[in-house]
Amino acid sequence: MSVIELVRGCTFDDVLFTPQCSVLERRDPSSIDLSCRLSQHLTLRRPVVSANMDTVTRAEMAIAVAEEGGIGIIDRGFRSGDIEPQLREVEKVKRRQHGVIVDPYTIQPSASLAAAIEMMRRTGVGSLLVVDESRRVVGLLTARDVRFVAPDAPITVADRMTPRERLIISRDAIDAAAAETQMRTHKIKKLPIVRDDGTLAGLITARDLLKQKQLPFATRDAHGRLRVGAAIGAKGDYLERAAELLRSGADVIVIDIAHGHSSVMARAIDAFRKQFGDTELIAGNVATAAGVRFLIERGVNGIKVGIGPGGGCTTRLNTNFGVPQVEALVRCREEANGQVPLIADGGIKRDGAVAQALLFGGDTVMLGSMFAGTTETPGDTVQKPVVVPESRKTVKVPFKVFRGMASLQAIVDRLDVEDAESADVEALGAEGIEIAVPARGSVRPVIRNLLKHLCSAISYGGARSLSELQEMFRQDPSRYVIRLSESARRESFDR
Ligand code: XMP
Repeated sequence: MSVIELVRGCTFDDVLFTPQCSVLERRDPSSIDLSCRLSQHLTLRRPVVSANMDTVTRAEMAIAVAEEGGIGIIDRGFRSGDIEPQLREVEKVKRRQHGVIVDPYTIQPSASLAAAIEMMRRTGVGSLLVVDESRRVVGLLTARDVRFVAPDAPITVADRMTPRERLIISRDAIDAAAAETQMRTHKIKKLPIVRDDGTLAGLITARDLLKQKQLPFATRDAHGRLRVGAAIGAKGDYLERAAELLRSGADVIVIDIAHGHSSVMARAIDAFRKQFGDTELIAGNVATAAGVRFLIERGVNGIKVGIGPGGGCTTRLNTNFGVPQVEALVRCREEANGQVPLIADGGIKRDGAVAQALLFGGDTVMLGSMFAGTTETPGDTVQKPVVVPESRKTVKVPFKVFRGMASLQAIVDRLDVEDAESADVEALGAEGIEIAVPARGSVRPVIRNLLKHLCSAISYGGARSLSELQEMFRQDPSRYVIRLSESARRESFDR
């Protein structure tokens, strides 16, 4: 039986998988290959993408997810025309860790020490390369050099820096192992790279080298920086926003609108391709074979699948349009047929559904509500009174906000409300909700648990890696898929 016949009308809680003979000795994520394709030219070691929602992914989340092997997509929930805040989030991710820092912060030797201290404070870096007007390296100033110096003392950078003749430098962009040897031999933490003519070519830091060792699965670009995606719309400032985001280092642009199978999207992709050539582009959302074909024909590199399954979403309630997510993934997968990777976006509420999303059609999963309330999500924590049922006592519990990007609150925040006519605001058709979720700890254990459970699923499925399980599943889905009765569903998932 074809897989679509097995799962027509189904979503995650309608299906279980039959266990197969396991061939794995160990199930831990460091020993199992979970690599996958985010888009045609970008791969990840872990199939996890954090949703471009303004209560989920800003720099802190994108850093955590990329360090854990996935990628975050910075949302576009900033006011139209106000591009700067989104750029800052992308820059924060790109500056978090490096192989070679190609554009380290610099200062002139004649600058006051106060200016250097202020630059260190503003940028959060503890060392500044000192260069002359021709960008020739003349010294290095570190936090240690400015410690205990009164900020208003009449001292210049030149007075406190380690001068060029006492610096250990490298002439070439050396690899990590060679840089580590240099640092160990000379007991240094910074290794400036200086060209033959004395100009600055880059900087390698001990901190970055350590990070690369500690985080072997992190998603990095060719310069060793974390990768990050950024979302844009399909109207208004979207092209200008894309240009600035790419200049800031965004690795992939996501044109994200509620209904991606639309003339608005077609126009946006054409304009994007005209201006940015073959820049990596993901588009969505769609939930049908026709929607996938439409986007592939327009030359996208990745597709987001999901109309209405999202935890903060009311599209199906409000419009009655949508496709159950398992059916959507199967139909989209059949159409894409491996040409363009798919992101299974929305509706994943438990770890087991990650395995389902990846078998039925997703190359990666996009998660929103699963990450809600974690420390890395943007937004304030508020204390709310909650009654404890046993004691009937009221205690204060910390909460954070999670909301659909089409919720009234999110739309209003994106508008310049002072300029908007009140009638405009009232006329908005919201397709999302805003809820308070209990604040919890870091997202990192959430991701690590999810990956452990995915590895267990691979073991139960009789495979050695994620791609092998996907292959086995697709060759014979009826070997795996069990449609659940209502009581089997209760037995499986009601706890
Ligand atoms: P989860 O279930 O992980 O889903 O929270 C995240 C995805 O939900 C989508 N999304 C929305 N869909 N109205 C919608 O119809 C909304 O207001 C909304 N906000 C988010 C989006 O695809 C996201 O990645």
